Amino acid sequence: MIYLNGDFMPLEEARIPVLDRGFIFGDGVYEVIPVYSHKPFRLAEHLLRLQHSLDGIRLQNPHSDDEWSRLVEQIIVRNESDDQYLYLHVTRGVAKRDHAFPKGVMPTVFIMSNPLLAPPREWLVNGVAAITASDNRWLRCDIKAISLLPNVLLRQMAVDAGAVETVLLREGFMTEGAASNIFMVKNDTLLAPPKNHLMLPGITYDVVLELAAAHNVPHEVRAISEYEVRTAQELLLTSSTKEIMAITHLDGKPVGDGKPGSMFALLHQLYQNYKTTIMRG
Ligand SMILES: Cc1ncc(COP(=O)(O)O)c(C=O)c1O
Repeated sequence: MIYLNGDFMPLEEARIPVLDRGFIFGDGVYEVIPVYSHKPFRLAEHLLRLQHSLDGIRLQNPHSDDEWSRLVEQIIVRNESDDQYLYLHVTRGVAKRDHAFPKGVMPTVFIMSNPLLAPPREWLVNGVAAITASDNRWLRCDIKAISLLPNVLLRQMAVDAGAVETVLLREGFMTEGAASNIFMVKNDTLLAPPKNHLMLPGITYDVVLELAAAHNVPHEVRAISEYEVRTAQELLLTSSTKEIMAITHLDGKPVGDGKPGSMFALLHQLYQNYKTTIMRG
């Protein structure tokens, strides 16, 4: 079951007018929220980021946080899987095609749920391959915008190369992945690029840094150069659906010894423990 503009219905019955500005302009924002054992993970943080994205495109939030929480609860109970990921999407609504904002138009609100499947075991055991590419996106990558054409093209480059992710480089520095945040390890220290307009402030990124701080894992948030990425001891990717993965090959070359490293093992374990605590709580 999905939610569309006030109603719950099967996905096959959902319809939106072709003049929806999401369809015409990609004029909207979204969130992806993992659900473990029927409990949404870090809902408050996802709703805060949604507000940041809506502010970024100057669209009024159609719901209060309480209303969003109730909608999220209702979608979760209407879908069977214990673990789900929710896709929550707001566009500027339906209007005659004109770039400028329409007046008095209701935003389109869409929420769907899909089963959240654990990543293939092989990816956890051996890590994944990534490639690098020049980050050719716009300068507001902090907005989780539905207009994802550059990300789509960049991630397809990875798929075409038989890899799982594309690590993006801009003016000699690493920004993030096409659909994930990227961490690296140098001298046994976890390094993360600082949040700014060039990357999405990942919810998983925050969890990883919080876990590192709570467990005295040496870590530093600072700009990471392309050279450092190419000579990293370990590379990690994080996202709500992939959680934490080790990148063990970059552009066909092994990262470190080409196997998931000890920082990956530690953070992956801490993340799983944290999830278990949340699910019990
Ligand atoms: C471009 C980009 N960066 C980072 C992330 C990770 O964000 P989160 O941890 O909130 O899923 C995503 C999410 O899929 C993404 O699309």
